[in-house]
Amino acid sequence: MKLPDDRQLEHIATPAYYYDTVLLRATLQAVVEAAAVDPRYRVHYAIKANPRSRLLEIIKGYRLGADCVSGNEVKAALAAEFTPKKIFFAGVGKTDDDILTGLRAGIGCFNVESEQELIVIDRLARQENLIAEIALRVNPEIDAHTHRYITTGLSENKFGILLSQLDRIVDLALSLKSCRLIGLHFHIGSQIRELDCFKLLCDRINDLTAHFGSKGIHFSSINVGGGLGINYDDPLGEPIPPFAEYFKVFHNNLRLSSDQTLHFELGRSIVGQCGALISKVLYIKEGDTRRFAIIDAGMTDLIRPALYQATHSIVALGKHPGAPIRKYDIVGPVCESSDVFATGVPMPELQRGDYVAILSAGAYGEAMAMRYNLRDLPGAFLSE
Ligand code: LLP
Repeated sequence: MKLPDDRQLEHIATPAYYYDTVLLRATLQAVVEAAAVDPRYRVHYAIKANPRSRLLEIIKGYRLGADCVSGNEVKAALAAEFTPKKIFFAGVGKTDDDILTGLRAGIGCFNVESEQELIVIDRLARQENLIAEIALRVNPEIDAHTHRYITTGLSENKFGILLSQLDRIVDLALSLKSCRLIGLHFHIGSQIRELDCFKLLCDRINDLTAHFGSKGIHFSSINVGGGLGINYDDPLGEPIPPFAEYFKVFHNNLRLSSDQTLHFELGRSIVGQCGALISKVLYIKEGDTRRFAIIDAGMTDLIRPALYQATHSIVALGKHPGAPIRKYDIVGPVCESSDVFATGVPMPELQRGDYVAILSAGAYGEAMAMRYNLRDLPGAFLSE
């Protein structure tokens, strides 16, 4: 990504997110081109990764659909003028209001996560005199080899319907009058860099479609969720994720019939690398064994390191190439010991007032910001 220059920095109050829309557009172009490997592929953007309205408008411009997990995300997708039929709605705990929002907007699919939710959607659809198009979210019991907080496809996770209950709930869905069962939905986890995990998912889906096919049950829509990871270690070296390899795994391993569509819900891989959290150094503090750079961004602005032990590359902005290198623990101001962005990182010597950029922060950064310690929410500015 292209980081903000001195002139742009002069005009911003830190901490603030910076989005490089040139990189976002290049990423969108790459995903659209890679998905064209098969005309049945449909890419949706997982809004939870970053719901900033200008980004949604740009993403919608590339004709992606939207993947939402709350009524408010459905409303954000509608406000950005995503085509209602391309809006899919997942989530284990949809409220009645959430469901009504989706029904009244005429969204393309509810991804249903439990038997009780299915019955509630059917009742609300009947009450509204509408038919809800639904897919059943299946817990495929596959280990995605990612952080345990972002693994979703194991039987111990709360997501989806267990394989052992699927036949019964498919039969129930088919018997309901105000729901139309169109597909199966899966999502095994996030930040997945070992693409073989997706091959296991394809095998599981092939088995399930063959099983249901033998009973005369056909699904027109298969949804494999999101999860493609990004390179947090070298974001400037690999700004665009390996979309072509990713889609190839499905192309080579998943059997689709000519009338089936295959849906992807990508979040992090679309917006992750185009965003950086810009922060100012408040203080340098020398300890016995460590040197701390205390910056004005904290875990309230970017919680990923504190919550998932995630590492983000950090660069100093506006430093001369010849500056001496020192090692720093880069920490935030929040009253929590976990408010640490990096330990022992070599950086050009930092001073109070210097700017740093925490990279790969476009996904699950601003979207997860909070006001603990009564801190202000971070600001945001775009390159265009
Ligand atoms: N579809 C479903 C059903 C999901 O639950 C998710 C993400 C996605 C799609 C998009 O996944 P992606 O392509 O972004 O991996 N806050 C965590 C990540 C949580 C992901 C939640 N679900 C983090 O910062 O790593």
